[in-house]
Amino acid sequence: MNGICAGRVVAVTGAGRGLGRAHALALAAEGARVVAGDLGTDPAGTGASTEPAWRTAEEIRQRGGEAVAHTGDIATDAGAASLIATALETYGRLDALVNNAGFVRDRMLVNLGEDDWDAVVRVHLKGHFLPLRHAAAHWRAETKAGRTPQARVVNTTSGAGLLGSVGQANYAAAKAGVVALTLVAAAELARYGVQVNALAPAARTRMTEGPFAEAMAPPADGGFDTMAPANVSPLVVWLASADSDGVTGQVFEAEAGRITVMEGWHPGPTTDKGERWTPAEAGRAVRALLPRMRLPGPVHGAP
Ligand SMILES: NC(=O)c1ccc[n+]([C@@H]2O[C@H](COP(=O)([O-])OP(=O)(O)OC[C@H]3O[C@@H](n4cnc5c(N)ncnc54)[C@H](O)[C@@H]3O)[C@@H](O)[C@H]2O)c1
Repeated sequence: MNGICAGRVVAVTGAGRGLGRAHALALAAEGARVVAGDLGTDPAGTGASTEPAWRTAEEIRQRGGEAVAHTGDIATDAGAASLIATALETYGRLDALVNNAGFVRDRMLVNLGEDDWDAVVRVHLKGHFLPLRHAAAHWRAETKAGRTPQARVVNTTSGAGLLGSVGQANYAAAKAGVVALTLVAAAELARYGVQVNALAPAARTRMTEGPFAEAMAPPADGGFDTMAPANVSPLVVWLASADSDGVTGQVFEAEAGRITVMEGWHPGPTTDKGERWTPAEAGRAVRALLPRMRLPGPVHGAP
């Protein structure tokens, strides 16, 4: 198949549904051979089914592409290792990893139980770290063998992780962690030919069509379906391709027809006494600085 990912092998986690499925189909349509990974959980992350991963792989094959399913849990070391091994054993190479799998368990902070904290932080943060680490080990070995790759990692954060989101403390903390992981990985892995970026998508999937039904609905008039998951995928495909050479350590928002580069933390207004403050002086200094700061976007859902 021709396309900007021709000859490349890409592993996508959470490829059985929603955004991951759209990314997998779009990657295959641009010539990538795809490892479609999905544990097949319910919306809260429990249960397992091989069906979603198999269905996406089959859909790609029916469209003339090449794909293999992976049905392990990518938030376990064995599952993450076997995702990467599936690419290497089936196709003999790995060029890109799209970390996307995850689920939410929304609660207000005062009601957020330890299990719901652990499960959500685990699937997003560990579920990004482990496949990334196994892929990175492969790419480092390639570089040491004199075959420096044009490798790519696309991580999935969220507006919740960038600005905060009421009722999603576990999810927002995990997704903010994904951004920090992206920055560190981009800095550490550049020497092995690996570029690492993140994107915050917005689209109609089972994660969003319940809580935001009206905003997510397709247009009745058959016009541009702004919230279709496939609208997010072109940026993912480009970032996974060799064409994105030189773009690393970036965070994007992608929704409908819009792509936005997110700007990171910068030092804002500052003052230096040249010696230790008293608490009262520190307070006065902060109150003088705050009116001069550039205001961040509001926390999602904040009153
Ligand atoms: N839909 C949105 O608007 C939106 C907004 C911001 C961020 N996101 C993020 O995008 C990603 C995809 O979400 P979606 O909306 O497509 O949800 P989705 O529920 O449609 O798809 C997620 C998939 O991940 C799989 N999965 C869950 N745990 C797994 C595990 N341990 N191992 C392997 N697979 C597992 C599920 O089986 C499911 O098929 C998530 O990381 C989500 O947080 C989505």
